[in-house]
Amino acid sequence: MTEMTLSANAITQIEKELEKYPPDRKESAVMAALRIVQDEFRWLSKEIMQEIADLLEMPAIHVYEVATFYSMYEHKDVGQHKICVCTNISCQLCGSKGVLDHLKEKTGIGPGETTADGRITIKEVECLGACGGAPMMQVDKDYFENLTTESIDKILEGLD
Ligand code: FES
Repeated sequence: MTEMTLSANAITQIEKELEKYPPDRKESAVMAALRIVQDEFRWLSKEIMQEIADLLEMPAIHVYEVATFYSMYEHKDVGQHKICVCTNISCQLCGSKGVLDHLKEKTGIGPGETTADGRITIKEVECLGACGGAPMMQVDKDYFENLTTESIDKILEGLD
């Protein structure tokens, strides 16, 4: 496994984020820093969170608190594509169970699992703020709404 350490590119991006905040409020960039690093490694190790804490001059525990509060941050490696299925109330009423069942039929995995080839991880998540398009799921950075078995098949076929 490659060692997870802040790359020069990540540091440059985080420093750009820091320009948005007063010099004594570096911790304000913590969510952006976590996103930048996760975009590179797909997940966040304790060591990399310590590096983020050092860079932002904040206690590591505060970085860890943010990273564990939000479901978009990963604490173990995930597949090349992450499928987050909303199972909150609107999506549940509109068929999120059917979405998960169909995904399981197609990929062989359920929530919290990754395909053996490391291609896809499925997660069950809370409301993603697209209730009007329920049932919905997020695939990597894109939202897909009003899901049907046919549209799910198309989305899966479109993944590289
Ligand atoms: S309940 Fe699913 S997006 Fe809000």
